[in-house]
Amino acid sequence: MGTSHFYVCDTDAMVNGEIRQVTPPGAGPVAVYRVADAFYATDDTCSHGQALLSEGEVDEDCVVECPWHGGTFDVRTGQALSFPCVLPIRAYPVAVESNKVYLDLDAGTIKP
Ligand code: FES
Repeated sequence: MGTSHFYVCDTDAMVNGEIRQVTPPGAGPVAVYRVADAFYATDDTCSHGQALLSEGEVDEDCVVECPWHGGTFDVRTGQALSFPCVLPIRAYPVAVESNKVYLDLDAGTIKP
């Protein structure tokens, strides 16, 4: 395991549909999602305003809805899916090792 891994939590610390905010050093707030027993991570701040996506809702299709104006993103890629969200947010690789969830920050971001 490299030093680029940022520990989020144990896999069983989150339930499906849960969103958790983490703040890795040197990065902005990141939202970590558990959907259908898989984990995803994106910027927590919406690209439309300053809302926190970790205070929104994620569905079983990996779509997160912003709590402010209802715009949506695909949490797998950060792609904006519906108005008023147009600009993508960054998505980050997530690694699960020995039932622990890590952000892989040095691996770069996933391109929408
Ligand atoms: S701040 Fe997220 S949709 Fe407006």
